[in-house]
Amino acid sequence: MADIFTPWKIKDLTIPNRLVRSATWEGLADDDGAPTHELINALADLAEGGVGLIITGYAYISPEGLGLPKQTGVHIDAMVGPLTRISDAVHKAGGLVAMQIVHAGGQTKSKWIGRQPMGPSAMVNLAYKEEVAAMSLMQIEDTIDAFAMASARVKAAGFDAVQLHGAHGYLINQFLSPATNQRTDDYGGSSANRARFAYEVLATVRQAVGPRYPVFIKLSSEDFVEGGLPLEEGVAVAQGLSKRGIDAIEVSGGGPASGKRLSPSRVVKEASDEGYFLPNAVAIKKVVSCPVICVGGWRSRAEVEKALDHVDAVALSRPFIRQPDLANRWKAGEEKASCISCNQCFSVGMKQGLGCGQELKEQEKEQG
Ligand SMILES: Cc1cc2nc3c(=O)[nH]c(=O)nc-3n(C[C@H](O)[C@H](O)[C@H](O)COP(=O)(O)O)c2cc1C
Repeated sequence: MADIFTPWKIKDLTIPNRLVRSATWEGLADDDGAPTHELINALADLAEGGVGLIITGYAYISPEGLGLPKQTGVHIDAMVGPLTRISDAVHKAGGLVAMQIVHAGGQTKSKWIGRQPMGPSAMVNLAYKEEVAAMSLMQIEDTIDAFAMASARVKAAGFDAVQLHGAHGYLINQFLSPATNQRTDDYGGSSANRARFAYEVLATVRQAVGPRYPVFIKLSSEDFVEGGLPLEEGVAVAQGLSKRGIDAIEVSGGGPASGKRLSPSRVVKEASDEGYFLPNAVAIKKVVSCPVICVGGWRSRAEVEKALDHVDAVALSRPFIRQPDLANRWKAGEEKASCISCNQCFSVGMKQGLGCGQELKEQEKEQG
């Protein structure tokens, strides 16, 4: 069994342990997308809590790419200053921080972005029940450029790495998936054509940040929707990204359209429920030359240690909402996370920003 607390390297970045905070929308930005004190403190708490690498919640690269209210923005140059406060606070607390960047594509609401959502093809988005407009070639080009400009801002704001959101039904995933991409031009049809958008985003981002800056992707290895991306294609895309110089792949799957049972944030009750994307991550690890991070349902030190025989690192989201100091707790010998995957963190996030529903319930009980 590998040790969780063995350092590892991605390019010039030495990460002190194998525990990554998976991107988690915090709902703690102000209405312009700038980080609030609460957001900066929450990320610094994770650094103090011993997380090896913190990945921020998804940040939108352009106004029409926003996915949820109170989401952090990296859409304009004026965000560099405010975002630097995040990297400064995390570094001061001894941590490392990457920013996840996203274009939500058709997976958003027109009332949030002030216009009709756009995606690879015109259709009703299954999860959000919104009419999506098909992107023109010009819009595709502009969006690829927006990814590059956002990455340059992430670097300028002092972050240690950037992560492209290529999972959970957002725009990169929409292009990859035959369920949402029915284009007949160079961006649709064959699996190579559907992967073109992801590859062009990576190439343009690489140009913007230079050869030594770590660029990661969180990738849906499989969609779990009818007619969606099958695992074999997810594996082939991972291989294509690795050949084109991605520096790490975080393996996930599913999205809002895949239903609760197959969602990225599944219920975990027992040890056998943990690490539900490990088989997919193992399949990807076999064909790539970059490090592989596996997300999804890790709750106990013992299961993580077993997984580290197969992948380079694991990523956790919900357990770090409940226990930002979980990494230090495991280092001190504790065995299990106290997260019960009740998924109330989604509704708590909407109401008041990042928080654990179970903890709030317990506090209410204590106060009578
Ligand atoms: C409240 C909440 C917000 C999330 N926001 C994001 C996000 O911004 N980007 C992302 O890639 N995944 C997001 N996820 C998914 C998690 O990163 C993770 O992939 C999933 O919850 C499974 O890991 P876990 O079992 O450790 O929670 C979010 C999950 C939760 C619970």
